[in-house]
Amino acid sequence: MSSNVPVTDLIEKARKAAELAYAPYSRFRVGAALLCKDGSIVTGINIENRSFGLTVCAERVAVFTALAQGKQEFSALAVVCLDANYPVSPCGACRQVISEFVSKDFPIVFAGGTGDFVTTSMETLYPYDALHELGKNG
Ligand code: THU
Repeated sequence: MSSNVPVTDLIEKARKAAELAYAPYSRFRVGAALLCKDGSIVTGINIENRSFGLTVCAERVAVFTALAQGKQEFSALAVVCLDANYPVSPCGACRQVISEFVSKDFPIVFAGGTGDFVTTSMETLYPYDALHELGKNG
């Protein structure tokens, strides 16, 4: 990850956001912090629903919130789950959604409730993106 991405700060923001998660069913509180190209950080939390199927992950809430604020360009994403003792990576649906707005080398860092975190990229999490030629980010 390039040195100008404030990894520690981003993880801390995601951790703080996770405290606001609405996860009464799974008790798996997740927070996401999306660094936008303008320098701002937009956070997201997982929001569950008693229908279960309508649950939305923290990553998608962060991406959709940023889009609703007119921000479509991003520099990095951090994800933290407070209730796991291992780093929790974005689910398949979120990988698809994130890939809509970022390029292959987009940095993604994910952590659990302990200090450990994994640093990776969009392409590593979502290789062989079958639809990449349709996307403006290649
Ligand atoms: N969840 C996220 O918010 N992000 C992830 O990366 C993994 C899963 C949420 C969805 C659901 O509310 C709970 O965690 C358990 O799957």
